[in-house]
Amino acid sequence: MSVSEHFKIGERDNYTGYKTFEAGSFQFRRDEYFAHIDWPKGKHIIAIDAFLRALMRDVAWGFFYGTVNFDGVFGTTNRYGTVEMFAGAHNEVYKNARVDTLETFHSEELLKIFQAMVSDWTNDGYDPFAAPAGTTVAWGRKNGDNEGAVGRVRVTARRMVGLAGDAPERTDENGYPVNRMFEDVPQDAPVVEPEPGFEGELAAFNLFAYLSRSDVTWNPSVCSVLHESLFCPTSEEFILPIEHGNDRVEWFVQLSDEIIWDVKDKATGRARARVTMRPGDVAAMPADIRHQGYAPKRAMLLVWENASHEIPELIQKGEAPVVPVEF
Ligand code: PHB
Ligand code: FE
Repeated sequence: MSVSEHFKIGERDNYTGYKTFEAGSFQFRRDEYFAHIDWPKGKHIIAIDAFLRALMRDVAWGFFYGTVNFDGVFGTTNRYGTVEMFAGAHNEVYKNARVDTLETFHSEELLKIFQAMVSDWTNDGYDPFAAPAGTTVAWGRKNGDNEGAVGRVRVTARRMVGLAGDAPERTDENGYPVNRMFEDVPQDAPVVEPEPGFEGELAAFNLFAYLSRSDVTWNPSVCSVLHESLFCPTSEEFILPIEHGNDRVEWFVQLSDEIIWDVKDKATGRARARVTMRPGDVAAMPADIRHQGYAPKRAMLLVWENASHEIPELIQKGEAPVVPVEF
């Protein structure tokens, strides 16, 4: 496996004001409406708002689990230490036409150029983590920046939100007001009465209240950890900005409202299923699919991940199943 070491940040365009970026043989350019991605055998174009929403997730999640498809053509696959960037490599039409490409990078190096890109291409007032109704627009020539928004770090509790020294609960005072769509969510908190000697070691929090105060959408945060078992609840509005290609099974528990999922084959992109999830519904997303969710109203979703580094390899070797249960 050869690793691409070429990276370049170009001069600002005289007209649009945006910088260009190169990683390996990929070239990136933005204009008033679009991101343009070129590689030796092809060209691709993505609406800039969709591109920035996807890029923001890829950066904030450190390339996430498995594959982050920005759309049906372009994306990244996390190899945990290295990362593949591809165009058409998981799209059977591009592959058959032999215009696909895939290059490997050191994760921290590609992350740096992606961070510089999301920072330069995001204008004052535009928040790629927000739902479209919660931000200004991405369009136009370079106009300031929004470092506060693009520099957000994902909540990753060490053990559980609310424990002493761990990720804090959200309140009005620490800058997390209740979202306009969750004003009916009760804000009471559980009462914890530890036995003498256990003070400071027990905690409980109101997860619905916590999620009602999320300032971002489609951003699972690690709220509790038990060995490799991660509870990653998230609040969702509009469209999951990526098609996530799983490298392991993940579970969804629908906590409120409704999310519609398009499920496609991971390798080819062929349509496989449509899943509508309503409160209380539980689904396991297999390890051989990609999926994208649609939330007509802001919804609460629990994503349950197994963070074990062994699973992707076991699945690739056929030693672990792609579904958690067979009937
Ligand atoms: C997923 O790919 O499973 C995923 C990603 C982000 C979300 C929810 C689900 O907000
Ligand atoms: Fe997923």
